[in-house]
This record gives sequence, structure tokens and C-alpha cells, in this order.
Amino acid sequence: MLKILAPLLISVSLLAWGATWALGRTAQTWFERDVGLRARLAVAGARGSLAEQLARRDRRRLAALLEEITRDDRITAMAACGPDGKTVARTSALPDGLACRDLTGVVPADPAARLAWGGIDFERTVPSGNVRVSLLPVIDDDAFAGSVVVVHDMSWVARREAAMRRLTLGVFAVVGILAYLLTVLLRRLNWRDWSRELRDLVLHPRFRRGGRATRGAAFQPIASELRQLLAELSREQSGPTAGHWSPERLQDVLERALGGDGVVVLANREPYLHSRTESGEVKVLHPASGLVTALEPVMRACSGTWVAHGSGNADREHVDGHDRVKVPPGEEAYTLRRVWLSPEEERGYYYGFANEGLWPLSHIAHARPLFRTEDWRQYQLVNERFAEAACREAKGPDPVILVQDYHFALVPRMIRHRLPRATIISFWHIPWPNAEHFGICPWAREILTGLLGSSVVGFHTQLHCNNFLESVDRFLEARIDRESQAVVLGGHESLVRSYPISIEWPNHWARAAPPPLECRRTVFDELGLAPDALLGVGVDRIDYTKGIEERLLAVERMLERSPHLQGRFTFAQLGAPSRTLIDRYRALNESVEALANRINERFATGTYRPIVLLRASHEPPTVYRYLRAADVCYVSSLHDGMNLVAKEFVSARDDERGVLVLSRFTGAARELTQALIVNPYDLDEASAALAAAVEMSPEEQADRMRAMRAFVSEFNVYRWAGRMLVDAARVRQHGRLSDRLTPVLRAVVPRR
Ligand code: F6P
Repeated sequence: MLKILAPLLISVSLLAWGATWALGRTAQTWFERDVGLRARLAVAGARGSLAEQLARRDRRRLAALLEEITRDDRITAMAACGPDGKTVARTSALPDGLACRDLTGVVPADPAARLAWGGIDFERTVPSGNVRVSLLPVIDDDAFAGSVVVVHDMSWVARREAAMRRLTLGVFAVVGILAYLLTVLLRRLNWRDWSRELRDLVLHPRFRRGGRATRGAAFQPIASELRQLLAELSREQSGPTAGHWSPERLQDVLERALGGDGVVVLANREPYLHSRTESGEVKVLHPASGLVTALEPVMRACSGTWVAHGSGNADREHVDGHDRVKVPPGEEAYTLRRVWLSPEEERGYYYGFANEGLWPLSHIAHARPLFRTEDWRQYQLVNERFAEAACREAKGPDPVILVQDYHFALVPRMIRHRLPRATIISFWHIPWPNAEHFGICPWAREILTGLLGSSVVGFHTQLHCNNFLESVDRFLEARIDRESQAVVLGGHESLVRSYPISIEWPNHWARAAPPPLECRRTVFDELGLAPDALLGVGVDRIDYTKGIEERLLAVERMLERSPHLQGRFTFAQLGAPSRTLIDRYRALNESVEALANRINERFATGTYRPIVLLRASHEPPTVYRYLRAADVCYVSSLHDGMNLVAKEFVSARDDERGVLVLSRFTGAARELTQALIVNPYDLDEASAALAAAVEMSPEEQADRMRAMRAFVSEFNVYRWAGRMLVDAARVRQHGRLSDRLTPVLRAVVPRR
């Protein structure tokens, strides 16, 4: 209400003030003209007598005549001057300074000019203040008989002006109130109309414009998400983390706000792994992992140590006596500390509890979570080992430690026990389920308690934060401050915040890649495609949450519905084998392959195959080459915390070409609203989006891509890390203050 009322009041008041001032000025001019006219009328009425008495210079009669005229209550005094300019008669009230001699020179001296002279109105300052005066000629029978001074009473003008001002203000007050009521009413009606329209647009996009899908309206994100995004963006624009974020700014925040000389990152996946090929050659590989994509540039900016599972088959040969190796190779910006796991530990902790338990628990992808006591035991033991390793890598008693993902839910509390003054930022890279669902985990309390050892617990979206807070509420005796989004457990406070993750910008892989046309040429050669072919690309770990089967089915449906694309459209799926010791993943590999074969058989002609499965752990240069060559990139996750492939596609397209088709069940869909947003389960919708994407005009592609590139460049990964560090610094400051104050308070406040 106040938001409408305040500006309305200010504008109406300004308007009223302006109008009163303008009206006052106009009225004054009118009144002045009016008094001049009245004086002329009065003098004209008595012209004969005035001329006669002036000619006779009969002072007595003339004075009586002037007194008579001044009975008009708007004339206060008069004087009659002879042709020589001397006073012949005057009324008693004539103010000093207005006698005829005081006006010498005003009446023209030239006889001809006198006859043509019509008199003059002016203001004069006299001892009693300012007065308005008219000096008028008395002309009779074409002879100049003299002149008269008429002094006006202007007090009525002031009275009238005041009355007019009151009236104007009153009118504006009434108009203002009416305008306010009308605005509120229209806003209500408008909001209803707008939200109804948006609902129609969002819920029934295909039924608009005569039942045909339209590119402008279809595949849009849902309204509430748009609103939330706008609110978050406007908050972001004004906060302490606003503005452009670069590696330098991140480093600066770390140094200034946290006094950090580097951070310790704890993540299961290592950023570089040493792998011996069958020929015996050792290669340094980049694992397919969104976490690595995001965190590696942050580490290059901050320096410090990344503690991870050493999973490469040649990793042990490339560490020093403390299991450390400097990375990136050749650049050596930070340290990688490898932790070795036995097959038993890896099976229980990584494959078992993390990926058969917590992974399906957190994703709505219809895979039943499996919780085994032995896996839980291994998870606890491995978490202890990593907590220990992180503390060993820490420099000093108050390091900044970033704990990554669902592999290490227990680590924050374990570190807190060892290093109570550490600043621990935990980030959960996958969705957090609702409290009901989370309760499936037999160790729900332990997981929550472990995470609440952190100073800050981060998620990609506010929804995941809310789900986490609900879970805390349901399973722990903790105090939740919903206003500041914090949880206090056993006297320790943890902030719970959303930090949507991103990628480095500018992206060094995109910069290092060949120009898009060259990428297109080499990729088309590799795939044996004709120059006028259309290419779709998908890049994922082969995981059931990624919706790869749904993606291939959508391609099949598109070819059914758009026969002209048969023989022309090819979809290349780059799939990195992942977690293949788990049955569900092995089964997925088989079903994806079977599906691709079936679709290929159905549409095959000559050498044409619509689906190309490229199953391997592709290195970033290959991934970027495909992303730059594609007409469309389809990210079809059934549920995904963020999905960085979507943002990588955007970063790859500096030519502003290519269309992103994006599942609405990804965190990225909340941010990349210019993508074609689809429900991957809805094959009709997804296939229509794919068809719209390949037929989209270059202009529209450029418009959409430009907007997405602007977004990702601003909301890059340095900002993601920077926001967490800024919040952590605040928590640290708060903790230090209360550390200092507590002994003082204890000393002054007697214990009970
Ligand atoms: O997206 C969740 C996640 O754990 C990421 O953090 C990581 O990038 C990806 O899955 C890879 O999983 P894994 O390390 O099991 O190969």
C-alpha cells in the first residue's frame, strides 16, 4: 500500500503546489488588469465634471468629486493634477509620495502625445507598503484638461487569491484520493488479468494461436519461477556482491575478508587424474563432472589445496611423499592432495551409500534408494579419513574449508570438532528432497547434524534450502531462524543459503576452441554428415537422472512428426560412462544402446543414422568442439540441481548461434529463461521444441543466445564462490565478536 501511496502523495502535492502557483500568478495579472479597467471606467464616467473643475481649478468641488469617486470600495485615494502637473485637489487618504509632483515626467510633455496617451498602471512603494496606482488623462473635447491619480485597494485581491489557493488545494486533495483509489482498483484488476494471461501462456502454450505452437509463447519457464528469479536478481543487483566478478576479485575477498592464504577444498572427484592407457602411456584426464567444471577455476583463482579421492590408475605414481601433486600440469596454481580408498571403502562409501542411497534419495527420478548398514559404516569411516586429511592440509587454526557434495555430509561436524574456529562452507550440488522423502534415509538425523557443523550450508535453489530447513525442523531439536535463514544446533549457528552455481567466464575452453565453422566442419566430417545436415548434441555422464532415454524418444517423435527432417537431422550423444559398478547404471547403458539401435533401424537410409552414441569420457576440447558445431543442444534431465552443460553450451557459442532446449527440472531453467524450456517426459512438447529449435531464424537464435550469454557472464562461478565467501566472512566476524564478548559478559554478569 505504502508503495503506491507515497509516490502518489508526492506527485499530487507537487502538482497541487505547481497549479496553485500558476493559478495565483494568472489571477494576479487578471486582477491588476481589472483594477486598471475599473479606474478608467470611473474616470470616464466623471470625465466632464473632472475636466470642468480642473479648468476652473476649483479645488473644493474637485475634492468633493474625487471623494465621491473613491466611494467605490476598490479605490482608496485620488488626486487631480492640472495640465502643468501640479496638484489641484486630493482626497485625504492619498499616501505620501503619490502627489502630482511625485509623478512628474510620467505624463508626456508633448501636446500631441498627451492626446494620444491612454494612461498608465504601475506599482509604487509608499510608507504603508506597495500600492497599485493608475495615472489617467482627463481629455474633454479633444483638449488635455489634466490627469488623475487613482490609488487602488488591493487587499481584496490578496483575499481572493487565498480563497482560490484553498479551493485549488481542496480540488487536488479530492482528485488525489480518487486517483489513489482508482490505482489500487486497477492494480487489482490488472494483476488478475496479467496472472490469468501468464497462467494461460504457461499452462496451455500449445493451445494458443489456433492450436499451433508458437515460438514466443511456448516452452517458457513457469511464472512463479520467473517472479522469484526477478526478485533474486533485483536483490543481487544492490547487495555487497553486486557488480562484475573476476578471479582477482575473488582472491581479494578471500584475502581481505577471510585473511586466507588459499582455501582447502574437499571433493570426492579430483580435477585431474593420471591414467595409464593400454599402450602404457600416462595421460592427465579431466573427469566429466559439473563439480569439477565449476570448482577448478575457483581453485586456480584462490590457490590452496584440493583434497580428493585418487581414482586414476596412475595417480599413485604422480604424487610426492605426502600424496600431493601440483596442478594444473604446467601451471601449478594449487595443490591436489590425493586420498587413497580401498575397493571395500570405495564400494561402501561411493557406490553404496553415496550413489545407491543419497543420490536416488535426492533426485526425483524414480530409482529406489538403497540403504545398507555396511555402506553407512564405510561412509562414516571414509568421511573421518577425509576430515582428517582436510585438517592436515589446513594452515592454522581458522582455515577456510569448502566441503563439496553429498559424499561428505558428515565431514563438516568432524572438522568442527578438530578445528572449532574453522570457517566451513558446505555446498550440496544435487537437489535436497522434501522432508517426507528425506525421512526414508535411516540416518537422516546424522546427515543433518553432520552438515550443521558448517558455517554456511549452500544449495542451488531456494526450494532446496526450504526443503533442508523443513527436514531440520522434522528431525532435529534445533532452533530455526527463518527470517535470517539460519539454524542453531548445540549453540552453533549455520547459515542456509541458495548459491546457484555457474561456470568460469570467459571460459578458457571456449577461447581455446577453433572457430565455430571449423568445429562444424570437423565434427560433420567425423560423423559423416552432409554439409546441409542439422545437428543436435547432448553431453552427459550416462546417468538415469539425465533423461537420456527420454531425449532419444523425443528425437524419434520429432522425426515422426516432421518427416522432412528424416535423413537430415542427427543427434550426437556424448555419454561418459559413470558409476558402472552399480546395476542401475549398467542397465541404463544397455537400455540407451538398445533404444538408439531401434530408432536408427527405424529411420536408417543409406549411411544415415539419426542417433550417434559416442560413449567415452570426452575431454573438454572435444566437448566444446561439438557444442560449437551444433544447431541445438538438448539438456533433458529428469531432475538436476543446476546442470552446467547448459551453461557451457552458452559459453561455447560466441557466434550467438545454436538453440538450447532445456528441461524445466534443472536449476539452470530458472536462470536461462531464453532457452526453450520443456518437460522432458512430455515427448510431444519436447519434440515440438526440437523442431522449433532447428527451424529457428538466425536472428531469434542470436537474440536468445545474447541474453543467456549476458546472464552467465554476470552470474559466473567467481560470483558463486564470492557470495559464499562474503557470507562466511560475516559469520566469522560474528563468531569472533561473540568470542571476545563472552568472557567480558561472564565477568560482569554474576552466574546464577
Ligand atoms: O551433479 C552431482 C555430482 O556429484 C557432481 O557433483 C559431479 O559433477 C557429478 O555428480 C559426477 O559424479 P561422479 O563424481 O560420481 O562421477
